[in-house]
Amino acid sequence: MSVRTVTSEELEEQRIYIQKIRSAFHIRSTPPLAYVHSYGCQQNVSDGERIKGILSEMGYDFTEDTAKADLILFNTCAVRENAVERVFGNVGALKHLKKKNPDLIIAVCGCMVQQEETAKRLQKTFPFVDMIFGTHVLHTLPQLLCSIVFEGGRVLDITESDGIIAEGLPVKRESKIKASVPIMYGCNNFCTYCVVPYVRGRERSRAPSDIIDEVKALISDGCKDILLLGQNVNSYGKGTDVDFPELLKRLDSLEGEFRIEFMTSHPKDCTKRLIDVIAESSHICHHIHLPVQCGSDRILKAMNRGYTREHYLQLVDYARNRIPDLNLTTDIIVGFPGELREDFEETLSLMKQVRFDSAFTFIYSPRLGTKAAQMEDPVSSDEKGKWFRELLEVQGQCGSESYMKYEGKILNVLCDGEGRTDKKYYTGKSRQNIIVDFNGTENDIGTFVNVKITKALPWALIGEKIN
Ligand code: 5AD
Ligand code: SF4
Repeated sequence: MSVRTVTSEELEEQRIYIQKIRSAFHIRSTPPLAYVHSYGCQQNVSDGERIKGILSEMGYDFTEDTAKADLILFNTCAVRENAVERVFGNVGALKHLKKKNPDLIIAVCGCMVQQEETAKRLQKTFPFVDMIFGTHVLHTLPQLLCSIVFEGGRVLDITESDGIIAEGLPVKRESKIKASVPIMYGCNNFCTYCVVPYVRGRERSRAPSDIIDEVKALISDGCKDILLLGQNVNSYGKGTDVDFPELLKRLDSLEGEFRIEFMTSHPKDCTKRLIDVIAESSHICHHIHLPVQCGSDRILKAMNRGYTREHYLQLVDYARNRIPDLNLTTDIIVGFPGELREDFEETLSLMKQVRFDSAFTFIYSPRLGTKAAQMEDPVSSDEKGKWFRELLEVQGQCGSESYMKYEGKILNVLCDGEGRTDKKYYTGKSRQNIIVDFNGTENDIGTFVNVKITKALPWALIGEKIN
């Protein structure tokens, strides 16, 4: 598969559209306002930052209030049915705003609309949606918007592309301290339940030099927490001469005070070498998000995951030996088609054996076009719900015990702001990527602080700053 990088001529063409819109907005006394909401995974949030970057260059400011917006854009997710239904509900609720303000532009983009059936259903159900565009044409947003503003009508662009990388798009990041950096796009794994390979196309890696330059620039801008993103970062580097462990090594050797996180790892491609690189690093977080999905070999095979329970357990053993304070998190799917009570019990036993520090748990959701959606699925949703609650209970116990081991310990915390739940605290993340709330001050924001942990909550740690 050849990867096509968007050419500088193509980007230049988009800049002309940006200027065209900017000039049209000049006559306004205030800048137009955009409301942009991204659903789903970090990759989508990162796309949302690029969308905001482009809109900002066009002269838009941003609002959190849909009633004040001149442009409303939903950047959607397709991973589970409930994410799709939520978008349908939220788009439907915009009808009255469009009635009040016919100049309002409503746009829906991202994974959900990359599926033709869903895009068409959205277009048909909501005639007031002006613009629908998929994941492969994000860089042409200026052109799409120009056609709405200057020509009117509706736009639907869900062009498919197996491999496209757009470098050099503007980014409007939410934070000065934290940034996410995509290192690759798409996925080749075709886990049988997953829609991602269909909506994000084939796997393609950014050039190592582009990633390293971006990270260097972030560090020199004062960014302290850099999250590397990809659907399966462990297979990074095809078509380049650098693999993921080597990329991490090169980033770890950069000068400065910063941390590197990454997600998501796939157990079939996670190597001992990668674990060694993390163990020997100065900047890489002691956190691996390693989705196991299920504890039964039979179901892992049906899911096309490419590893066995035994392989996973060996990997975990190795990682915990090499990185004793490792924060190990996972994803689990309950109720995959054909899963029996005995398969589910294997998942429970794996959870009890591994004792994940935390887990994201999902009930299987059939996705159009995937292999699993065609499989027999005889277990009732009531039964799946029961299994799901059992799983939550087991994980709740493991998670609480895991956080309790930090009580009395000193953790180095990157403070990123005021406490979210309680304003008397400042909050941040430890090198294990665990949320720590502590008695800080405004001056701690953006700095690394040593905190003695006094109490473990199920989702965070509480502590006192020490000098
Ligand atoms: N149903 C339920 N969960 C899913 N995931 C992906 N596809 C589905 C689906 N069809 C979960 C997996 C994945 C996480 C991002 O979402 O656990 O790791
Ligand atoms: Fe989906 Fe599997 Fe690819 Fe992850 S690795 S995005 S679960 S197909």
